[in-house]
Amino acid sequence: MSAKVAFTIDGKTVQGEQGQTILQAAALASIYIPHLCAMKGLSPWGSCRVCTVLVNGRPQAACTTPVAEGAVVENDTAELKDLRSSLVEMLFVEGNHYCMFCEKSGNCELQAMAYRLGILAMRHPYMFPVRTLDASHPDVMVELNRCILCARCIRASQELDGKHVFDFVGRGSRRHIGVNAATGAVGTNLKVTDKAAEACPVGSIVKKRVGFAVPIGQRLYDSKPIGSAIESGRAAKG
Ligand code: FES
Repeated sequence: MSAKVAFTIDGKTVQGEQGQTILQAAALASIYIPHLCAMKGLSPWGSCRVCTVLVNGRPQAACTTPVAEGAVVENDTAELKDLRSSLVEMLFVEGNHYCMFCEKSGNCELQAMAYRLGILAMRHPYMFPVRTLDASHPDVMVELNRCILCARCIRASQELDGKHVFDFVGRGSRRHIGVNAATGAVGTNLKVTDKAAEACPVGSIVKKRVGFAVPIGQRLYDSKPIGSAIESGRAAKG
């Protein structure tokens, strides 16, 4: 049995276990720490920084920082909300996110995070990058305009599906998700039932022929914001 680790989040005592991350221990204590690249069942990644908390006064990614005895964690503060908002805004302006046309709308974690954070306008200029759409696969579409480089598809393919369908290609601002076939997604061994086809938090990897199947008003984030108990099963407890 793992040793217990007691620490506080916003003044509330949390009992974690050695080896857990702050995000995992918080989720098990029903404390929501906003996050995007973290996902239950996948190894911690630490790229989006939306889960940034203050640990003993220092900013740390909750999804990669292990719990520590006596640590004082701050999560729900105006400063952290502003930081998270800025990070999410950067994700919006860095890609081409046309939520009103997107079949992931209402089920999109980026969109839901923007609503939760109360984002109304971007404080950064839009970059309007030129990105590609790969519709070659019979059952799955890869739409890089909406990708936020969270690597959830990469990790899900490797860690859950035992495959290597996706990986990063390029560097710097040209970095993007590539597929493991010169012919595009159609040339890979990706199956529509793969976890990698479901791991995308946005509308970048979507299944064909199911878009808009759920009516507006009944979608995942229509009635409750991201982080609510209704979708806590998708939170990063694992
Ligand atoms: Fe922690 Fe992305 S860096 S959820």
